Order: sequence, then C-alpha cells, then structure tokens
Amino acid sequence: MIRFPKDFLWGAATAAYQVEGDNCHSDWWHWEKKAGKESSGPACRHYDFYKMDFDLAKGLHHNAHRLSIEWSRVEPEEGQFSAEALQHYLDVLKALRARQIEPVVTLHHFTNPAWLAAKGAWEEGKSVDLFLRFADHVVRALAGQVRYWITINEPTIYVSHAYLFGVWPPQAKSFMRARRVERHMVAAHIKAYRLIHKIYGEQRLPAPAVSFSQHMMALVPCDKTLKNRFAAWLRHKWFNEGYLDTFVRHKALDFIGVNYYSRQRVDLKKWGLRNLFADVCEKNHDPVAANSLGWDIYPEGLTQVLLKLKKYKLPVMITENGICTLEDAQRWEFIAAHLKAIHRAIEQGVLVTGYLYWSLLDNFEWDKGFGPRFGLIEMDYKTHQRTVRESAKKFSRVCATGVVP
Ligand code: FCB
Repeated sequence: MIRFPKDFLWGAATAAYQVEGDNCHSDWWHWEKKAGKESSGPACRHYDFYKMDFDLAKGLHHNAHRLSIEWSRVEPEEGQFSAEALQHYLDVLKALRARQIEPVVTLHHFTNPAWLAAKGAWEEGKSVDLFLRFADHVVRALAGQVRYWITINEPTIYVSHAYLFGVWPPQAKSFMRARRVERHMVAAHIKAYRLIHKIYGEQRLPAPAVSFSQHMMALVPCDKTLKNRFAAWLRHKWFNEGYLDTFVRHKALDFIGVNYYSRQRVDLKKWGLRNLFADVCEKNHDPVAANSLGWDIYPEGLTQVLLKLKKYKLPVMITENGICTLEDAQRWEFIAAHLKAIHRAIEQGVLVTGYLYWSLLDNFEWDKGFGPRFGLIEMDYKTHQRTVRESAKKFSRVCATGVVP
C-alpha cells in the first residue's frame, strides 16, 4: 500500500477542442475537412454539458480538473473579443469551484483561431503579441477563479507534428519554419508568465502558479553502445529539457507541468543530425504491452524522467498521463502502475503535487479521430450518454483516500 501527500491534487484533464464540440472558428475545424479527416463535429458536447461532467468528476472524488480555453471562441475575429465566451468560461470555473474542484487552466492547447492560421499562425511575427492580447483578456476575466495556469500545452509536440512531421495543420516539413514557431512560443510563454503575475498583482490576488505542459518521453538507448547512449542523452536534453532549461533561465516557471505517456527506444542507424534526433529501434527486443495506438506502456520511465527534474528544484504536477484502450481493466492497471512510479520519485525527493489523468471523457484524439478511448468516462457519440467506467471507480478510491492499494 502506498500513500500520497494529504493536499495532493487528484483529477483529470481535457482540452477544449477535443470535448466542447462545434468549434467552427478554429483552424482545426477547417483543416479536418480540407485534409479529409474525421470531423470533430459536436464532440462530447461538453460546452453544453459541462455541469453534468463536473458532477460526474465530483462523484469520482476529483479535487482538481484541467481544461483549456478555446482562443477561437474568445476571439472569433481578429481583435473582436466575445463577452459571451468569456462569461461561459467564467461560469465553467465557478461550476468547478462550487464543487470544490481546483481548476488548472490552459491558454493554448494545439488549436488556433482560423484568422490567425490564415496569417501564418505561429510563424507570423506578431503571433506573440496576438497571443498576449488574448491571454490578457482571458486572465483579467478569470483570475479570481484560477490559481494554476498552463500557458502552452506541449510545444515540442505542437511544433514537431505541425511543422516537422507534417501531420497537423499547416502540415509543414521544414526545420526553418519549426525553429521560427519554436522561438515565438518560447517568447509567448515567458511574456505570458510575466503578464499573468502582473495581472494578479494589479487585482491584489494571491500569487498564481504558472507553468507550461512539457511532453516527456522516456528515451531509452536500445543497447549499451556509445552511439545509442549518446543519442538518447542528447534527445532527452533537446526533447524533454530544452524548453524547461530556457524557462528556468528566464525565471518563468512556478512549477513544472509534465505530460507522460510512453517510451522511445533510441537506435541510431548512422551518425547524422537527423538520425540523432529521429532514429528509433525497429527490432522487437524488450517487448512491453502497448495502448490501442501502439504506444509502449512503460511506467518505470515516469520515475526516471521525474528524477531528472529534481535538479530544477521546482514542484511538479502531472498534467496528463493516460491510456487509450478497449480493455478497461488495462486502464486501471496503467493508472496504478504509473501512480506507483510517481510515488517512487516522491520517495526519492521529487516534489509532485498532483496527478491529472488524461482524460475525463473519451474525446476527439486529433488526427486519429474518435477511435482511441482515453476516458475515465465512456462516451456514446450518438446519444452523448456518459457511462462511468470501472477504472474510474477504482481511481476514485485513490482520489478519496490518497492510497493506492
Ligand atoms: C497529448 C495531448 C492531448 C491528448 C493526449 C493523448 O499529447 O496533449 O491533447 O491528445 O496526448
């Protein structure tokens, strides 16, 4: 039996575009259709049914919940801010507070307003200022309800999928374009960090806790050769710690948000820049179970990456960790194994303050559509009927007691 600290945050995470439905002013909405992907459509209709979903979360003893603000709802046309959308998000946060659920609020979770995409999205020189103007409106309106802010979700994943691998809009495959977007996102985080603190000062509110969510992978050399050990180390420095190092240097992090799902086995085919950052092992040694998208399940990797964060001397919140599977029993095993992995890191001195499972509901998994089932709560996309899974009930015992059996 293991016991977590008393004031630990327990809950689940979502992102606006994946659950709300009908985000017709977003770049993804247009891209899905253009690229011939599954359409997000009404998704989970969470925009309408958020109170019902929060009742379910409350019933499952969650005391925290991560959500994101959809920029394209708040600013559907450039410079035109929707009072109605801001009021909606204020109502959403009040609904969480009324249930004693602590909100963790993300400002950018992969999607952009269509008008920004038309100008080049984050490649555009003004994107940083445009993001800050949006953040300013949102934070001023919502500050009274929020303590935890995530500026940007997984910039490494956004940049690599949209600008290097060409799988998300705008489907670029350009190192130069990726670098430009990365530079803008770095500046956007640092400036948003300062802006949020400034607004809390002006509104005489207790200091907020501001971070971003870093996607971390366990990067494991597939054998003991020097080339693979070196490549795994380098990839860890770049992929897992690149942004962190920069933000810590700029004193722009109050805690570290970690999203952890899987491992990557590093096997360099030859010495080369691209190989150093991209080659993965294709041999089937050291097999482990995988989720329904084929991602390796590797809980010990979570202990490993958490221990590597110790040097930053900052609290860590697990802002996402989850599994898509059609076997719900596997979900509970996944959660229990990862909680044990986190606890091992805590025992070795890492200050972990919360665990937010991805996701509260089955939802729209980007270019993969509605197939992958990540939810603690099952969604019937025809009727929008919600069904609480057994794994959710087991996890709720942990949320209620802080004890993993
Ligand atoms: C993360 C994303 C989240 C979800 C999960 C499965 O990379 O932040 O939106 O898609 O993966």
